[in-house]
Amino acid sequence: MIATRAVHFMATAVTTGSVIFGVLIATPVLQHHAAAATSFRSRARWEIWASLVVAMISGAIWLLLQAASMSGMPLSEALTGEVLSTVVGETQFGEVTTIRAGFAICLAASLAYDRAAASRWLGLAVAVGLAGSLAWTGHAGSTIGASGYLHLTADALHATAAAAWIGGLVSLIIFLATAQIRENMSLVRDAVERFSTMGIVAVATILLSGGVNAAILVGSLRGLVGTEYGRVLILKLAIFAVMLAFAAINRLRLTPQLATIGSEQSSIALRQLIRNSAIEATLGLGILVIVGVLGTLHPAVHLISPASP
Ligand code: HEM
Repeated sequence: MIATRAVHFMATAVTTGSVIFGVLIATPVLQHHAAAATSFRSRARWEIWASLVVAMISGAIWLLLQAASMSGMPLSEALTGEVLSTVVGETQFGEVTTIRAGFAICLAASLAYDRAAASRWLGLAVAVGLAGSLAWTGHAGSTIGASGYLHLTADALHATAAAAWIGGLVSLIIFLATAQIRENMSLVRDAVERFSTMGIVAVATILLSGGVNAAILVGSLRGLVGTEYGRVLILKLAIFAVMLAFAAINRLRLTPQLATIGSEQSSIALRQLIRNSAIEATLGLGILVIVGVLGTLHPAVHLISPASP
């Protein structure tokens, strides 16, 4: 279950983040550079199709595993039409999975026909829906009352911002590695600056929404250090801090060095930027493995008595 959730979160993040990068960064930067745009799009298309297919297959396996755990039967006995139709038709997880499958199919259609701007914007909307709707599959989906709406909103923003940052990093690496783009440092600089600005918005959203998630699911310092859930979250925060350090080096030290067109210094900075972005993306995918674990653990708040500090 953890492996399937982790693969699904990674594939969803790469799919959604790459679509966001394509519409909000690559399209405006490359609008007057047809050759570079064609070259980048053909590479990005493969990457998005591959991650979307992985997201759909892992999503289907997640549904089967969830059906088995909900029915209390071994997997081999749970894969009956009766059990699956009950889970799909009568559980929140089943209903959300059906809606998310619809988002994935719409996204595939918009990818198959992305010449029209309207189709690309539809693709962006359903890609955001694919990531944001993860909130209804996790702990946020079972928080009741008024804080339930707050938790779902925060978690949907959290998963979407996480996808924009990590999936966007994967597309940024493909963008910076595209020959026609590497030769034109002003394109590189334009895309890196736009991505960095989007990154700041994503990180701020992740921090605020993550704080809401943590307040609702951890609730106390004792919950954070005294439970398995809390300690796994601390590991997640530690990796997040390292990612921020790489992002800061990229923005504050390497991006300014991209200014000097054609100089040895700017091509060294570009190489370092690609390397750092690859490290950042790998750490981000690592966080999604941790998220695969977090969602299967009892939230700390349920394990610590309210009297404790
Ligand atoms: C790169 C950084 C991060 C990424 C990629 C990330 C990603 C995610 C994702 C995809 C979820 C799952 C949503 C779900 O299943 O409902 C999640 C849940 C969560 N995140 Fe983050 N997150 C990041 C940083 C943070 C930070 C900084 C905090 C705390 C301030 C945080 C706290 C949480 C909590 C408490 C949950 C709920 C987990 C659960 O359902 O039990 N995350 N995160």
